[in-house]
Amino acid sequence: MSEVTIPPTATAHRKLYIESYGCAMNFSDSEIIASIMGEHGFASTTDELDADVIFLNTCAIRDNAEQRIRERLKHLRGNKKHNKELIIGVLGCMAERLKEKLLEEEKLVDVVAGPDSYRDLPKLVAEVDEGGRAINVLLSREETYGDLSPVRLNSNGVTAFVSIMRGCDNMCSFCVVPFTRGRERSRDPQSIVREVMELSNAGYKEITLLGQNVNSYLWFGGGPKKEFKKLTQDEQDSSVDFADLLEMCATAVPHMRIRYSTSHPRDINEKVVHTMAKYKNLCNYIHLPAQSGNSRVLDIMSRNYTREWYMDKIRMIRNIIPDCGISCDIIAGFCSETEEEHQDTLSLIDWAEFEFSYMYVYSERPGTPAAKKLVDDVPENVKSRRLSEIIALQNAKSKAKNESYIGKVVTVLIEGHSKKSTLDWKGRSDQNSVTIFPCEEYKIGDLVNVLVERATTTAMIGKALGYATLTD
Ligand code: SAH
Ligand code: SF4
Ligand code: F3S
Repeated sequence: MSEVTIPPTATAHRKLYIESYGCAMNFSDSEIIASIMGEHGFASTTDELDADVIFLNTCAIRDNAEQRIRERLKHLRGNKKHNKELIIGVLGCMAERLKEKLLEEEKLVDVVAGPDSYRDLPKLVAEVDEGGRAINVLLSREETYGDLSPVRLNSNGVTAFVSIMRGCDNMCSFCVVPFTRGRERSRDPQSIVREVMELSNAGYKEITLLGQNVNSYLWFGGGPKKEFKKLTQDEQDSSVDFADLLEMCATAVPHMRIRYSTSHPRDINEKVVHTMAKYKNLCNYIHLPAQSGNSRVLDIMSRNYTREWYMDKIRMIRNIIPDCGISCDIIAGFCSETEEEHQDTLSLIDWAEFEFSYMYVYSERPGTPAAKKLVDDVPENVKSRRLSEIIALQNAKSKAKNESYIGKVVTVLIEGHSKKSTLDWKGRSDQNSVTIFPCEEYKIGDLVNVLVERATTTAMIGKALGYATLTD
């Protein structure tokens, strides 16, 4: 790729519109993108018609996620008609998966950039200004964007995401993420704590630490992931694991609530859960995707745990934190899944008492180990029926779980108005369950004790009793 210098006048006062899809990591990346572009004179706008540059930060996890982007790109063709100078970029996981194909397939895409090439975006845009199209999909083993201060987009000013690592080394057979986000690497804990403190100083009240498998976070001075036992004695002595990082954050901002996502059932350990129990500002909530309740299916998914192992982890968590909220991800109809094996997933959901779950039908992703070695042989109608059964059961369990709080007091951070009424606040309990109550004198960002009076599948409804604190 040729060197292009970026004349400041060429980029000054241009407007950037970013649309984010997929997981929280992508939304967090968009804030890094806004920061990088901001330093090169691009102001963020929330009006796509006002934009000089439109970036779609895309997801590739399931086929329907990509189809959505294709539809969106077709729609944006109209904007290009009105504004001949408009630059459209496809960023993120779909960009990384399809690479040059995106430029050919969707002729209106000018820039294609993968998750590790965002520092290059101003240069890529400058290349398009020179006439032509630009692409960078190189994956890095080191990039964490740790030194950047993200620009908070669409923020409620109360909750924010903080990326603590990038990539994934797990290679679950169904999953495209290791291919779109590259090798796992952890971010410098000092830069994480600095960002968390900046958010606290800016008035934020809750952060969520993000990674595909936060329990394998390990800092030993930077660079690609290494196993703890392969570190030198010096590296081991000064290393920071996920529990250490949680503790560093909890003590740095004792008045801020701290959550994290996602935990891997193989790697979550007692040290992490004991650390959660020790600090009141570490929320009692764990997202612990099971994917399936059957050990054979888990084995061909390469999840590296069994049903029993998963159940033991839940027992361990509830033993240390009895009221810990736990949520789950489930895939229905994975390759060769039998009716009996599907029943095992249902029985796990029945047993586990998750607050809620994200539930999907299996979608084969080209290039993944499952696509190469297994046959996607569960008919679509069977997949959908199994998914409906899973959803019906989880909904009933979620409702029962929410109802179990009736008469109890939960601590809620107010995030905004409820969808239905501006007379009600909406927030989440420590266990991450949505809670709704009349506004009264309280305001956004307040931490409030709420007495739960009613419950639905998706929310607890009650009344505020007064302010709550995170420090004893
Ligand atoms: N790192 C997280 C999950 C990231 S992807 C973890 O290990 O749990 C989010 C969820 O999407 C996954 O938990 C899985 O349930 C779902 N998913 C991933 N690939 C999928 C596929 N090919 N088809 C259907 N669902 C998938
Ligand atoms: Fe995908 Fe597995 Fe990594 Fe999660 S842990 S991102 S499911 S490969
Ligand atoms: Fe999607 Fe990429 Fe996240 S594939 S789920 S945006 S890591």
